[in-house]
Amino acid sequence: MLKDKVAVIYGAGGAIGAAVARAYAREGANLFLTGRRLPPVEAVAKDIVAAGGSSEAAEVDALDEQAVDKHLESVIDRAGRIDISFNAVGIPNTKILGVPLVDLDVEQFLLPIAIYAKSYFMTARMAARRMVANRSGVIMTVTALHSRTGIPLVGGYGPAMAAKEALTRDLSAELAPHGIRVVGLRPQAMPETPTIKDAFEPRAMASGMTWEQWQEFLASKTHARRLMSLDELAQMAVFMASDRASGMTGTIVNLTMGSLDD
Ligand SMILES: NC(=O)c1ccc[n+]([C@@H]2O[C@H](COP(=O)([O-])OP(=O)(O)OC[C@H]3O[C@@H](n4cnc5c(N)ncnc54)[C@H](OP(=O)(O)O)[C@@H]3O)[C@@H](O)[C@H]2O)c1
Repeated sequence: MLKDKVAVIYGAGGAIGAAVARAYAREGANLFLTGRRLPPVEAVAKDIVAAGGSSEAAEVDALDEQAVDKHLESVIDRAGRIDISFNAVGIPNTKILGVPLVDLDVEQFLLPIAIYAKSYFMTARMAARRMVANRSGVIMTVTALHSRTGIPLVGGYGPAMAAKEALTRDLSAELAPHGIRVVGLRPQAMPETPTIKDAFEPRAMASGMTWEQWQEFLASKTHARRLMSLDELAQMAVFMASDRASGMTGTIVNLTMGSLDD
């Protein structure tokens, strides 16, 4: 589905970035993986190459516009174009969750809003500048249901996800006339990722639930009465990046399995 597409992934050493990278590689994409620290990204790239795919790794801070620009320049030099930009950057939940809003330090509240919005804005527009020349491309990111529903003790994370969803629509409004699609994925929690365990820890005490009870609680809110897998998210990321999804832009794919109505 992605044969010979040139894809850049930010945060590719993370749970979602790595799963999307592997799924893109299986579908024939030529991958340029990046992350804040090189070793985890290199490990994913090596796995992909060992499985017969095409992948390179680079250390790129997705909050550093010059670094993002320089890396994209090198991708253009190597591959001639960029077809897919996927921002899977995430910051540790332990830094942002667990404090009631009335007690939350202002800087701590603003941290996720600034980091998530800045990183997505910069990586998206840097890719778009290159995609415009080809009148083709797909810009993607990940959000969470916190964008659309009230959840206690999540600090600035909900506003951060809402900002990314609004930016997805606005980018699309400007870029779709140039042939560029912009699509977000809003998955349910995937308990196999360390992120979800980290999100639970600060709330364990307040909720009085065990890790198993918390997963059951989240699952009970879905129509399927289960949480989703990384593979299910990655499959949707493949479809949305492919030309088969040419009718989708300016929107977020609701993968909350019924937890959140459209
Ligand atoms: N996991 C889930 O179930 C789930 C569900 C819904 C939404 N989400 C959202 O999806 C996103 C990714 O989640 P995840 O589970 O894949 O998180 P993750 O495993 O923590 O991965 C995030 C990755 O982003 C990298 N990163 C952080 N700052 C960066 C920067 N400035 N430049 C480049 N890379 C940077 C991290 O690198 P370091 O390790 O070096 O910091 C890490 O590899 C987050 O926004 C998360 O909230 C996750």
